[in-house]
Amino acid sequence: MDKPNIVITRKIAQPAIEQLRAIGNLTIWPKRIPPSSETLLKMVTECAALLCLLTDRIDEDLLVAAPHLRVVSTMSVGYEHIDIESCRKRGIHVGHTPGILTETTADFTIALILSVARRIPEAADFARSGEWQTWEPELLLGQDLGESTIGIVGLGRVGQAVARRAFAFGSRLLYHDTNRDIKTEEDLKIKAVPLDELLIQSDIVTLHVPLTETTHHLIGSSQLEMMKPTAILINTSRGSVVHIAALLQALQEGKITAAGLDVTDPEPLPHNHPLYQLPNCLITPHIASAGATTRTKMALMAVDNLLAGLEGRPLPHPVI
Ligand code: DGY
Repeated sequence: MDKPNIVITRKIAQPAIEQLRAIGNLTIWPKRIPPSSETLLKMVTECAALLCLLTDRIDEDLLVAAPHLRVVSTMSVGYEHIDIESCRKRGIHVGHTPGILTETTADFTIALILSVARRIPEAADFARSGEWQTWEPELLLGQDLGESTIGIVGLGRVGQAVARRAFAFGSRLLYHDTNRDIKTEEDLKIKAVPLDELLIQSDIVTLHVPLTETTHHLIGSSQLEMMKPTAILINTSRGSVVHIAALLQALQEGKITAAGLDVTDPEPLPHNHPLYQLPNCLITPHIASAGATTRTKMALMAVDNLLAGLEGRPLPHPVI
């Protein structure tokens, strides 16, 4: 029997590639920058299975160009880049990689919180530039995590993992979510509050919601206006949960004190964007899940989904 054609839209962990090479004819996009939509359309014409990333648009045009496609497996937990309804209509399975990146993403969120709250990038620049002359009682003062109220927006897997870590720091915890989680509330002494109250009370607001129509621009100028002038905003969810122009203005006008962003809108943020010029804004290039082991596990999980879809078995981690 002919081997199925499999397209992988970027170089992923070698063990994952080897598993797929054993069963299919692989086309792997070799560059760091993703293929353009036109190129991807050409790549998928004969393909039965597509292993993609969150940077690839899997839309109606692509599905029309790929009449043999049986499964789309994204190496990400988020799947807003995939037109799920169009896949459903065509009976194409869609898989993603939930759970596996939770702890790594929560670790990174805490790293971002600490970096911004304790002004680590500023402090490193200060030392490197030769300005460090002595120990000073009031040099580069930051926020004490144990004295802070941390507001977690979205108490899903990552939100909870962040809450567990913040609990260990002794922070006071608030959360806002569409669902109550009584067990986590009791275990971590975390209190459910409406979003407005969370924004008003928190010293650090950290975002952990998926991108949906409801969460798009969830944090805009009126929400930033509610936050304390000393507050910090952290985003490791999706860039467009925050209205980026409103955030820039809030930081410039001192409406909030600082921000840490692992995700931006657009992504990547153009290198001349004014947010990069602000010393109180720390931007990292969407690397919250970039633990070496985690990324290999994500690739292998995406392979499991892809193989199941090709073999007509239920996907172990289905979106549909
Ligand atoms: C995901 O998997 O959706 C993450 O954003 C990748 O870091």
